[in-house]
Amino acid sequence: MAFDLIVRGGVLPDGRTADIGIEGETITAIEPQLEAEAGTVVDASGDLVSAPFVDPHFHMDATLSYGIPRINASGTLLEGISLWGELKPLLTHEAVSDRALRYCDWAVSMGLLAIRTHVDVCDDRLLAVEALLDVKKQIAPYIDLQLVAFPQDGFYRSPTARENTLRALDRGVDVVGGIPHFERTMADGTRSVTELCEIAAKRGLMVDMHCDETDDPLSRHIEQLAYEAQRLGLQGRTAGSHLTSMHSMDNYYVSKLLPLMAEAQVSAIPNPLINIMLQGRHDTFPKRRGLTRVKEMQALGIRVGWGQDCVLDPWYSLGTADMLDVAFMGLHVAQMSSPAEMARCFDMVTNVNAAIMGLDHLGLEVGKRASLVVLDAENPVEAVRLRAERLCVISRGKIVATRPKRDTSLSIAGRPGSVNRRHDAGGTA
Ligand code: FE2
Repeated sequence: MAFDLIVRGGVLPDGRTADIGIEGETITAIEPQLEAEAGTVVDASGDLVSAPFVDPHFHMDATLSYGIPRINASGTLLEGISLWGELKPLLTHEAVSDRALRYCDWAVSMGLLAIRTHVDVCDDRLLAVEALLDVKKQIAPYIDLQLVAFPQDGFYRSPTARENTLRALDRGVDVVGGIPHFERTMADGTRSVTELCEIAAKRGLMVDMHCDETDDPLSRHIEQLAYEAQRLGLQGRTAGSHLTSMHSMDNYYVSKLLPLMAEAQVSAIPNPLINIMLQGRHDTFPKRRGLTRVKEMQALGIRVGWGQDCVLDPWYSLGTADMLDVAFMGLHVAQMSSPAEMARCFDMVTNVNAAIMGLDHLGLEVGKRASLVVLDAENPVEAVRLRAERLCVISRGKIVATRPKRDTSLSIAGRPGSVNRRHDAGGTA
């Protein structure tokens, strides 16, 4: 038997050591030892081999625009939105597309091979929509890009947002978005959730709304989102992004809300890097940290992933397209400290995020697409701890990025040997 490519000796996230055989764009064998030839062999001995990283929440129309035309002085969500409003009229198709493609190169090099990006439709030119639809075609060999029609300035609050949302969906945007907490009133927010879910149901699309990204405990649009998902048959294809108000909600109310979300099969996409930065800005002390109730939702079977949200844009001044940074921050803020919880954080930025986006073709299994990542770590927890190097990235059966192992030969003066951040745990008692 011959394969096009074999990844030899890698450690799978579940701890098994295996060879992975690839034919064309498909994984066709995963076995302890493959007695076979291959056109290309990747030596992954002792290295973690995993499904690719997936980001279910991003803003690719704004990425890498940090500082244009100025920076966000208050560090709040609302100043970020007004700053984006200043930048929007200055955008050109070419600039949006160049920045997005540059970001996609970063993403591929970090093993991030599927991204859901919201794209602002509150610009009558739909310039960012057109630019990202072009980008989607160009990067298809490397990255699955899903676009969400996102009425940033409010579906009702912005006079042409409704019409533009429909125009964007007509042009091939995949998912229906929304921002109910930014409408003028709670009632308008509620109505926007209903109408947007009806649009999605009518067109057979998924829904992913920015929902309750505020510290106001009375921002409860997630309740309406779950209700509409159930009423309209959108179970399993609806997500609520951010959900930060849940951090501050009354506990009794949450005890009723979470079972509704579970019944409606609504997924949650918290974005820990961004919300740890944006939330609580109106508090003195104690200062709320604004992360939604991750472990509590997971305990009820609600699907919860980790999203990145922003890299170098009006809302966030850092970022590297590394989903392990996202998992690392999420792990801390959600206090996911047990070995199982830490490993789950890795699963969230790979398999769980893929499931939220409906990407059934991704995963480290025979018959799935041959997209995978070799990491300089021996297990998922170590990968999160080290934000481990991506040694080899394979997309659709082709090697698309490689990087040498980190040089650990640095010596410390007065200490024997050299520094190695792997395998350091344990030792004698
Ligand atoms: Fe967002």
